[in-house]
Amino acid sequence: MANTNLTAAKMTKNDEFYTQWADIEREMNAYLEYDPDAFRDKVVLLPCDDPEWSNFAKYFALHFDEFGIKKLISTSYAPASNPAIDVNDYQPTLFEMESPSYDQEKSTARGKKFVLERGTDLTGDGRVNIDDLRWEYLEGDGDFRSGEVTALRDEADIVITNPPFSLFRTFISWVIEGGVQFSMIGNSNAVTYRDVFPLIRDNKMWKGATANTSDMVFRVPVDFDVKGSDSEKAARLGYPSTPEARYTRLGNSCWFTNIDHGRRHQPLQLLTMAENKQFSTLAAVREHGYPQYDNFDAIEVPAIKSIPSDFDGLMGVPITFLDVYNPDQFQIVGTTEGDYPTTRKYAKKKRVVDGVPSKSNTGTMSGVIREVEFGKGTYFDVGYPVRAVYKRILIRHLNPATKEC
Ligand SMILES: C[S@@+](CC[C@H](N)C(=O)[O-])C[C@H]1O[C@@H](n2cnc3c(N)ncnc32)[C@H](O)[C@@H]1O
Repeated sequence: MANTNLTAAKMTKNDEFYTQWADIEREMNAYLEYDPDAFRDKVVLLPCDDPEWSNFAKYFALHFDEFGIKKLISTSYAPASNPAIDVNDYQPTLFEMESPSYDQEKSTARGKKFVLERGTDLTGDGRVNIDDLRWEYLEGDGDFRSGEVTALRDEADIVITNPPFSLFRTFISWVIEGGVQFSMIGNSNAVTYRDVFPLIRDNKMWKGATANTSDMVFRVPVDFDVKGSDSEKAARLGYPSTPEARYTRLGNSCWFTNIDHGRRHQPLQLLTMAENKQFSTLAAVREHGYPQYDNFDAIEVPAIKSIPSDFDGLMGVPITFLDVYNPDQFQIVGTTEGDYPTTRKYAKKKRVVDGVPSKSNTGTMSGVIREVEFGKGTYFDVGYPVRAVYKRILIRHLNPATKEC
């Protein structure tokens, strides 16, 4: 029981990762570069947020006029519903306490809704910005799944946030169900999840334009246990922790969106299969070429840069392919993780380590390649040595280069 509580507390602490302005700006700039009217005349909803501390709300409020936004809505989650917050220690901000709407009881039990609307320059300074925000308590706790926040989703054209990590999958379903445009932060490992991958395969969601190969820094609660190396790296990236603000970094955070951007229309420049076999910087490609999987009608491509430009069939590529995926150049058909038909089933998996049969492996067989001899970690239930490779995405060229190219 104690363990379960500890895990739950850890998970909810992991939900309290606050996004940095620079990360938001970089990603939104990519949408605007592709379409300067990306936010024009749109209702933008920022759920799981709070302008009192969130950079999302501050960023969009600052650019409200410039982006031509019609209405900006930000909702926050009630402290009493948030296991990461000790309500006994909870201190509302001065902004809230000094407002005529302040109510001590509602302050912890209810979520809040902040609204900025075109034509409501409350301060009369000639522009609509964060000083013109109106706010009120929600009827409920601001859970994004509640009827009241779902109604705001249905009013919105675009939903943008960094949702709680523990509810990432639920959040994706929620935005998809709403039929809205969205941009949200998540973990890049999510791409092969059973309920996430079909959205990527069917071009209903793709990776964002930024942060795919670099760390993202997050502010975390001051009592959050940050590994020394993460805190040092965050500091090197310009976010030194202080007693008031603690920072960490994540290497696998990325954006998921269905808002178009230029990066996904840049074609990958590739060599032909013959050129790769001769000149590839990967010894495996020069020495063994592109082995055919033993259980898929596809060839194994160990790195993105080795995708042959002229192969007219299925290719298994590492999941980092999604960082450079251009839907005008490639089609994604499945993964080696059970959503695409295999040509061979391995009923009994046995393992050979350094030539010696050892205990059976219980993990799933992903893409499998035939080997010349039994070596380290090969599997042999088929009468010949085979080796499983790491998760692969199965793709094909939409227009493979001709051999002469
Ligand atoms: C990862 S943090 C990000 C906060 C903010 N959007 C940002 O990026 O800085 C997720 C936020 O969602 C809140 N939250 C947790 N569960 C929630 C739920 N069921 N509905 C709405 N918000 C929730 C958390 O308290 C936390 O503040």
